[in-house]
Amino acid sequence: MKGIMKVQKPMHRRAVRLCAGALSALLLLCSTLTGCQGGEPGGETKTDQTGIPGDDSYTYRIDMGKYWSAINAGGSDYLTLVNKSVTVSASYAPSTLVTLDPSYTLYGKEIQMESNAALAAEAMLLELWSYGWTDILITSGYRSYQYQSTLFNTYLAREQEAHPAWSTARCEQEVLTYSARPGTSEHHTGLCMDLIVNDSNPVLDESFAKHPAYAWLQENAYRFGFILRYPDGKESVTGYQYEPWHYRFVGIEAATAIHAGGLTLEEYLSRSGG
Ligand code: DAL
Ligand code: ZN
Repeated sequence: MKGIMKVQKPMHRRAVRLCAGALSALLLLCSTLTGCQGGEPGGETKTDQTGIPGDDSYTYRIDMGKYWSAINAGGSDYLTLVNKSVTVSASYAPSTLVTLDPSYTLYGKEIQMESNAALAAEAMLLELWSYGWTDILITSGYRSYQYQSTLFNTYLAREQEAHPAWSTARCEQEVLTYSARPGTSEHHTGLCMDLIVNDSNPVLDESFAKHPAYAWLQENAYRFGFILRYPDGKESVTGYQYEPWHYRFVGIEAATAIHAGGLTLEEYLSRSGG
């Protein structure tokens, strides 16, 4: 909070000490009575959520009250693995899909996510906005089998146009480095989202990593239960090229372990016997 600067008359040193002492006592009383940590109004320090030794310094800038239970969601429902070899049936749809408020989405488009993932996404976006990065929005969430099919075929047509000499198989191979065949996209679970920079030409590409919000996300997305699903250098594990924009909700407990270990979801699940 910025206060109005006033020109102060010089005070006697003892008077300054007394004022400082009284202020400290007041702050201590405030802290004891309300748990206030001296951050932004509505800010909330949770030192016991992550379990990472020494990781006790983060102060949430938004009021986390209505988001904690969603972020703490966990268990097998939130650890569902979908990738090139673990598929999801065409008829599957998450039971608790909700529609995001259009103020969080690019062009106000209608985007759905699983209910706890949606709340966690809202909290993380509001936190990003609190740092001034209000140009970060959500451009994709839940996708049905049919929608993913349309998307995949659009990319295939684009590759065929760009590489007329390539066979269809070669074009598919190219598309498969960045887009999932229908039935193999985790967007089908409703547990992930693509973030985008709402500039004059919003596109999903590696330039997202140059936005200052990305460095923050690398350090802090786990505090909202999200992981970077397709990290740089893990293509051989995830099957997809680096996607700095794609965040997957797994709940804060798993996200904390994945963040601390520098793991992918595949590596985390194989270590935990999942
Ligand atoms: N871009 C990711 C891999 C998907 O299509 O699900
Ligand atoms: Zn995505």
